[in-house]
This record gives sequence, structure tokens and C-alpha cells, in this order.
Amino acid sequence: IYYSQTILCLSCMNPMLTLALVLFTGSAASVDTVLKIVATAGETVLLPCITTASNDVPPVEWTKQGTHSSSVIAFLYRDGCETFEMKDPVFRYKTNLIMHELHHGNLSMLMSNVQPNDSGIYQCVIPNKKKQVITTLELWTISCEHLGEVIF
Ligand SMILES: *[C@@H]1O[C@H](CO)[C@@H](O)[C@H](O)[C@H]1NC(C)=O
Ligand SMILES: *[C@@H]1O[C@H](CO)[C@@H](O)[C@H](O)[C@H]1NC(C)=O
Repeated sequence: IYYSQTILCLSCMNPMLTLALVLFTGSAASVDTVLKIVATAGETVLLPCITTASNDVPPVEWTKQGTHSSSVIAFLYRDGCETFEMKDPVFRYKTNLIMHELHHGNLSMLMSNVQPNDSGIYQCVIPNKKKQVITTLELWTISCEHLGEVIF
């Protein structure tokens, strides 16, 4: 994964600039190419998830991979509304879909005030009978104070 610290520092200096650097893992031969999003702490990031548009908005589940192959729900949208009860409390007031985009097939999730502990693997899933993984991505959140400690 290649990017310059200069770009990161620039985005640190402009926290209002909700510019997530979208990066891809290197080799084309790699089968598990995972989209990587780098954000600085405090930002609102858009985790992209695009599927084909349909009149019937599908159920949408965003999960964050936990330890021991478990995962927690970062957002669950079912039958036309958010299912709060299923959402992990750490994501309360933090995650949202863009409701007017859903019928365009844009199932992207907004996450506000990202913190280093929000880093991890996220999946956008359509949890129908046959679970359909649309996107898997890795979020890296870097706090500016700790930038020097990050080893690339
Ligand atoms: C991350 O840390 C904040 C406090 O700094 C806490 O409120 C939040 O629940 C933590 N999130 C996770 C995913 O552990
Ligand atoms: C999805 O919606 C977000 C927020 O409106 C927008 O920024 C993004 O460009 C959209 N993505 C696509 C592929 O339309």
C-alpha cells in the first residue's frame, strides 16, 4: 500500500475536507483485493457500496468484522427502515445510509467522527435468503498525533 505521508498530513490539516483516500492493494494477481479507505480521526467517511438500482430497495446490512471471525452490525436496514435494535451500540448515532440514494442502488454508509478503533474490515451485505456480499473494505483511521508512529 503506497501513499505519501504528505497527503495524509494535508488531510490532517483540513479535517473539514472529508476526503478519504481510496486505495487499492497492489498486485492484480491478488484474489482478495480489498478496497482500502484511509481517514483521519474525527472525519466523516463514506464507505462505498454500489449495487444495481431497483424499485424495491433491498435489505442492507453493514457489518464490521470482529475478533475470532465474529462480526457486529454497524447498520441494518430492513423493510424500509433502520433496525436499531440489531445495531451494535458502538455505532449508535454514528452510522447512516443515504436514504434518498438507496433506490439508485447506492447503499453506501456514512460514518461520522471516525476514531482509530473504528479501523477494521467492513462488509456491505444484502441479507436475503442467499446472502450477497456486495463490498468488502478496510478502513484505516489514523489520528494525526500518532501519524509518526504508523509504520508503512
Ligand atoms: C472507540 O473509543 C471510543 C472512545 O474513545 C468509544 O466511545 C467507542 O465505543 C470505541 N469504539 C469501539 C468500536 O470500540
Ligand atoms: C452515493 O451517495 C453519496 C452521497 O450522496 C455520493 O457522494 C456518492 O457519489 C454516491 N455514489 C454513487 C456511485 O452514486
